[in-house]
Amino acid sequence: MTILALETSCDDTCAAVVDDDGTIRSNVISSQRVHDRFGGVVPEIASRHHLELVNIVVAQSLEEASITLEQVDLVAVTQGPGLVGALLVGLSTAKALAAARELPLAAIDHLQGHVAANFLVFDRDGGREAFEPPFLCLIASGGHTLLAHVSDHEGFQTLGRTLDDAAGEAFDKGARMLGLGYPGGPALERLAEAGDPDAFEFPTSGSRSRGGRGATRAFGRSLDFSFAGLKTSLLYKLRELTEVERRERASDLAASYQAAIVEHLMLRAEEALDLTKLGRLAVGGGVAANGELRRRLAELGASVHVPPSVLCTDNAAMIGGAARFTAALPYPDYLGLDAYATGERPR
Ligand code: KG4
Ligand code: ZN
Repeated sequence: MTILALETSCDDTCAAVVDDDGTIRSNVISSQRVHDRFGGVVPEIASRHHLELVNIVVAQSLEEASITLEQVDLVAVTQGPGLVGALLVGLSTAKALAAARELPLAAIDHLQGHVAANFLVFDRDGGREAFEPPFLCLIASGGHTLLAHVSDHEGFQTLGRTLDDAAGEAFDKGARMLGLGYPGGPALERLAEAGDPDAFEFPTSGSRSRGGRGATRAFGRSLDFSFAGLKTSLLYKLRELTEVERRERASDLAASYQAAIVEHLMLRAEEALDLTKLGRLAVGGGVAANGELRRRLAELGASVHVPPSVLCTDNAAMIGGAARFTAALPYPDYLGLDAYATGERPR
């Protein structure tokens, strides 16, 4: 079975062709760099660009897989969560492509897509690799920070999520305060390279969060994340420094701030590994590209699976990967499907 998958939940216009054994035949990602000068994604601009790019990206994904639309058996698409206008472009395109040939359509949850990126087969060190449940999955991106207990291919149980900013958002906001461009994660990481991670002290929420309003409860306690205090702490530190000090100590500030974000992610992941006794951890989302996080993960005793960066950041191959294990709707039952902006779809 050949799956054509689309993903347009944020600012990347993505299409991929995936086989039902998890082989990726093409994975096309068109990143809309137009948002950088605004310091973040502008939803209306993102939707308009998806509209311009989606057909080109789909055509390229088919071409790179050396197939035509006639050879597609199933269309998959991200239904939510994400920017509604952006999601609607992908959803409408997927419906049209599927309906034209009366194909079935699989509507996929974006977070399940990040989890399913681990089920995809890719080449590494000359071998073919995929990660099978059960495992713990840490998803850290610009929009989400989540610890998921993945016991099968079909879904996951949320053990913890962020109560305020996402980890990538913490990188982006910190980077902005340090005068760096958007997206801030890679820029902050580069600045941190020459810095001392112990130069400044930042709160890492090492203590177990008490689990206030909206908290997730697992194993009788909260494994939720919080990055707002860290961000405020950076703001206060910058205020205490003179302009010259801020410039001279920028790399120390970046290194210490990065270390605090990574430490918070690691503490929660280690707690969850401890509680679940799973001994296996997978990672996804844009922050998984961070070298400091990857270094810390490598030190963990658990078996750790970090897919290549192109499969960690938003992409359509992961949506095709999830579609392998999702019941598809037959034509024409999907024509009335709507996108959803927030929340996780119930299992
Ligand atoms: O998964 P993603 O591409 O898009 C979504 O947000 O869904 O993640 C983007 C986020 C941004 O916040 C970006 O700053 C962060 O991932 N990021 C990084 C790095 N590369 C991307 N954060 C830290 N270090 C990096 N190397
Ligand atoms: Zn994402």
